[in-house]
Amino acid sequence: MKVSASFLSSKNPAVDLTKLNDTDVDYIHVDIMDGKFVPNKTMPFSEMKNIYKYTSKRLDVHLMVENPKEYIPLYAELNTEYITIHVELEEDIMECLELIKSYSIKAGLSIKPNTKVSELIPYLPYIDMVLVMSVEPGAGGQAFIEESEERIKEVRALLNSYNIPAVINVDGGINGDTVKRCSECDIVTAGSYIVNSDNFQDKISSLR
Ligand code: DX5
Ligand code: ZN
Repeated sequence: MKVSASFLSSKNPAVDLTKLNDTDVDYIHVDIMDGKFVPNKTMPFSEMKNIYKYTSKRLDVHLMVENPKEYIPLYAELNTEYITIHVELEEDIMECLELIKSYSIKAGLSIKPNTKVSELIPYLPYIDMVLVMSVEPGAGGQAFIEESEERIKEVRALLNSYNIPAVINVDGGINGDTVKRCSECDIVTAGSYIVNSDNFQDKISSLR
């Protein structure tokens, strides 16, 4: 299992990112919130881009914003492997996915806990990752929604039935117990479980 570490709940991102750089974590999960798609707001790009000073890990960027087209060109400049947008957006999703691809970056599509998995169908040929939200997006430290286990299986079945090689990532409430319900995933994203601990590597190893 690959692990992506979110530093959304970190009290000191510079210190925690430096510590994460010394682990074998696969990706740094960068949560971006605009105060519109979700109520919370994260720091502006002018500050967020300094992340390169503290990590040489590839970035897994999760855009929880109403207007991804404003953000995609900015985050495409960084050491980014995936940029993920939400299937619930009012925006033209295909245009956003094409914009991500135009930078040779892998495109992800995220789905909130109450959105029908079938909403993903029109975009399946164009995506490299499905990010299954196992909490309502907007904040770290929430409890894993139990139904997510079934939803992950549903997404896996959908990808198989359309013969789509996209990976599945799960985000929200992941810890040493809840990860057991995510065995169908290729990547797990964990925030508070890692950054609120005193041994990042132990927690990361427990998720693999
Ligand atoms: C929630 C974010 C998650 C969050 C995960 O909106 O997308 O990435 O930071 O944090 P934990 O692991 O604490 O739920
Ligand atoms: Zn996230």
